[in-house]
Amino acid sequence: MCGIVAYTGPRDAVPILTEGLARLEYRGYDSAGIAVIGRSGDLRVRKAEGRVAEMAAGLPARFKGGAGVGHTRWATHGEPSDANAHPHVAGTVAVVHNGIIENADELRAKLVADGIELTSETDSEVLPHLIARSGATELEDAVREALSQIVGTYGIAVVDTRHPGVLVVARNGSPVVLGIGEKEMFAASDVAALVRYTRQVVHLDDGELATLRPDGFRTSTLDARATSKEPSVIETEEAAYDAEGYTHFMRKEIHEQPAAVERALRGRLDARFHTAHLGGLDLDPREARAIRRVKILGCGSAYYAGQMGAQLIEELARIPADAEPASEFRYRNPVVEADTLYVAVSQSGETYDTLAAVQELRRKGGRVLGVVNAVGSAIARECDGGVYLHAGPEIAVASTKAYTSTAVVFALLALHLGRIHDLSPADGRRIAEGLRALPAQIEEILRQEDRIASLAGDLAKYRSMLFVGRVRGWPVAREGAQKLKEVSYVHAEAYPASELKHGPLALVSPELPTVAIVPDDELVDKNRSTLGEIRARQGRVVTIGHRATDEDAVVVPKNEPELDPILLTIPLQLLAYHAAVALGHDVDKPRNLAKSVTVD
Ligand code: G6P
Repeated sequence: MCGIVAYTGPRDAVPILTEGLARLEYRGYDSAGIAVIGRSGDLRVRKAEGRVAEMAAGLPARFKGGAGVGHTRWATHGEPSDANAHPHVAGTVAVVHNGIIENADELRAKLVADGIELTSETDSEVLPHLIARSGATELEDAVREALSQIVGTYGIAVVDTRHPGVLVVARNGSPVVLGIGEKEMFAASDVAALVRYTRQVVHLDDGELATLRPDGFRTSTLDARATSKEPSVIETEEAAYDAEGYTHFMRKEIHEQPAAVERALRGRLDARFHTAHLGGLDLDPREARAIRRVKILGCGSAYYAGQMGAQLIEELARIPADAEPASEFRYRNPVVEADTLYVAVSQSGETYDTLAAVQELRRKGGRVLGVVNAVGSAIARECDGGVYLHAGPEIAVASTKAYTSTAVVFALLALHLGRIHDLSPADGRRIAEGLRALPAQIEEILRQEDRIASLAGDLAKYRSMLFVGRVRGWPVAREGAQKLKEVSYVHAEAYPASELKHGPLALVSPELPTVAIVPDDELVDKNRSTLGEIRARQGRVVTIGHRATDEDAVVVPKNEPELDPILLTIPLQLLAYHAAVALGHDVDKPRNLAKSVTVD
């Protein structure tokens, strides 16, 4: 959500902080700021509402420093404004904070009663004050003392002019990763900010704190017990974090899907038994047989991909499966059953609602599997076992390649469970062959981009759209509507095609076009008759399917019926992307949204 970055070393911290923030901006982008300790030991702070580039453009040439912290924000407490932007400062101390301090009101009231003047509406502002008031000689101890008074989640980075060259960072629920350089140290909420400077990183655990100096770092728990950490190497290429000549990350990521699907499949298909192997599943065949139900949890696109996954598991493994928004599940005191396999889906592995659902499940003794993209993320670590997507970094706020890779991983899971249950070897082979065909078929769809773009330009003129699909087409329709809403701000509503006549048909008119998902499966005639009902009411219909019926048809290559929904989603991503471009929107950073929502 918000992004933090910090540096200590011989170089000027300012360009390192601003460049790092620009790379984290996809996480949150309503305000930005930096604080550095100047060469003369003074604290220099700049923060402003708006984008990182605007904040950086206003920096005077003499604004330099050897150690510093930076932040890009997505407002939770208090509207976006200069005052609410981070870093927050108290005397010699500057702090950047991700997360939520739940007892902030109480702490603010105490500080005000002690005569302290607070200048923002944020929960975070209490932190520098608590640190500045500590009598501890070491900054690390002062931070520890302050954190002991906090209830909530945080990833923080702190500098104090009384300790030039020292950075203190801490983590509880919001990621913090250290970057080890040559006589310099970095910290950030996401490796994206570090890849340009170092490949050696250390992931902090919840409840851990680190003190960084240019020549190294030490880590400890909040109660001051030293911990020992082995650095790991970032494997992802730096270029993966760049737009690489594409105008937008969203378009780049749509085009990366054939390669991402290859990676999701690599080494996982077994040609001998026509099944799939998923290394991190940690489920022996006897345990897999004992599963009576599968419950999939996620938010946003992760939830819709989970709905597609539930259908695949029911169809191929004949195990009852359904998906539910993690955000709903965690609040409704769910019944947790020993013979249910729970699956948490998250691209970032950080979404707080999903993490909280996993924690609630684990507390009640539920077995949870993670389907996650970000390696080593909070959700991945919290689960009993898991399958990584290996989709590479996804930077655009609207999920595309992670969505597709999630669906592919569910197909592998369904194949694995199916072959343990009643899926025949012949059907296993059929699905495995279908999966292997996906990358080339996605390429084929991407070659139709120009045509889909012109259709999108045309559809972008409407104020509202219906997306309909039946059974396998239903999660496709939901994800299509979600994508369009997210990036083009055109109102879109997804409906099961079968439900149309029970309500929304009343809306159909020449002003409301319908995007219909029409796979060539056993329900194709039913779908065609629904489209007839729409056309009879002068509604324009665009079909995404396997037959070219009229000029408003997008035809995708045919795969196995169970896997067709994966392909049918791709034109809808292009449709949303090009509608947003036609309308002149900031595609990668849509208004009011953030890439991963790490707060309640
Ligand atoms: C946010 C984003 C969505 C995303 C959802 C889940 O709401 O705006 O695009 O689908 O989070 O994110 P996750 O990282 O858990 O998949």
